[in-house]
Amino acid sequence: MNAGPSESPSCAIQINGLSKTYKTGFWFTPKVTQALKNVQIDIYENQAFGLMGLNGAGKTTLIKLVLGLLRPTAGSVKVLGGSISQRSVRNEIGYLPELPYFSKQHSGRELLEYFGSLHGLSGAALGRRVDEILELVRMRTAAGQKVSGYSKGMLQRIGIGQALIGRPRLLICDEPMSGLDPVGYKEMRDIFIELKKAGTTIFLNTHILDEVERVCDRIGILHEGVLKEVVPMSKILESTVPVDYWVDVDFQETSKLSGLPFQESVQKNGGVQVSSLVLAETLSLLTSRKVQPKAVRPLSSVVEAYFLRAIGAEAHSNRPMEGVRA
Ligand SMILES: Nc1ncnc2c1ncn2[C@@H]1O[C@H](COP(=O)(O)OP(=O)(O)O)[C@@H](O)[C@H]1O
Ligand SMILES: [Mg+2]
Repeated sequence: MNAGPSESPSCAIQINGLSKTYKTGFWFTPKVTQALKNVQIDIYENQAFGLMGLNGAGKTTLIKLVLGLLRPTAGSVKVLGGSISQRSVRNEIGYLPELPYFSKQHSGRELLEYFGSLHGLSGAALGRRVDEILELVRMRTAAGQKVSGYSKGMLQRIGIGQALIGRPRLLICDEPMSGLDPVGYKEMRDIFIELKKAGTTIFLNTHILDEVERVCDRIGILHEGVLKEVVPMSKILESTVPVDYWVDVDFQETSKLSGLPFQESVQKNGGVQVSSLVLAETLSLLTSRKVQPKAVRPLSSVVEAYFLRAIGAEAHSNRPMEGVRA
């Protein structure tokens, strides 16, 4: 699938027919995993691109191939108009790994100073940049503490901090929301939105679908190593993919919900879960039964529903969706 004009000068990353096969095990029990199969994506400059996929879909493999940390079995990648083997290209990239590892005996500030110095900063300029980053990732008060005492969320913040310290033109993040609490999610989203405004290109991987909604301009859906779709977020938001709703009624009126003639509805105490396909009919039926719903709320996002449909695991009312949120 070609997601855009491959010769476009505004491409930050061009992924051409990328395949990766892992060969593990021993000669008498060989194990072959085809992690990526002929993936083709153009990622545009000054945009945020989100790669969505379940655990094991091949997202980390793709990022490592883009960064030159793995060699492809077939295909090629062009980054910022050149090759990742060029120092000048690597200098313009910030990378947050899936499992950032930092030397535990240093403080957050010391680590950022170290990464800043790798980008050629020193003296007062280094101090100023470290302060800016600590402020941005909300780590000013904990900056002096040793990393060994940091929570997963704090490590993630220092991780994004080190990725940003060199003012990258391209930021690549592998599961940036992992380990964060809901406040952390929101702060990380705000950081991405600010960076985007400043013109940074963002490429992120995620299995947490909510995060892509407000950040990403385009998304790719990766499933079992195959790129199913590349689609602008605006297309997803205006799509008519069915979403489950919860129609909340007074607890005493539960009995009036029985026998709704829709396969896509699940009656529970105090309400009914119903697909958007039959929401309007459900509401008018309830009106005819003199039931006034207290609230009508979507139970899942349209992005989640779109994603499930794209990977052939379409959501419907009776099916639990835990598999999506690992
Ligand atoms: N170093 C490796 N050796 C063998 N198999 C691997 C290796 N890394 C990943 N895989 C396999 O490749 C597939 C994709 O993994 P990964 O890229 O980590 O997916 P994701 O990041 O989407 O969870 C999985 O089946 C995984 O088990
Ligand atoms: Mg991964």
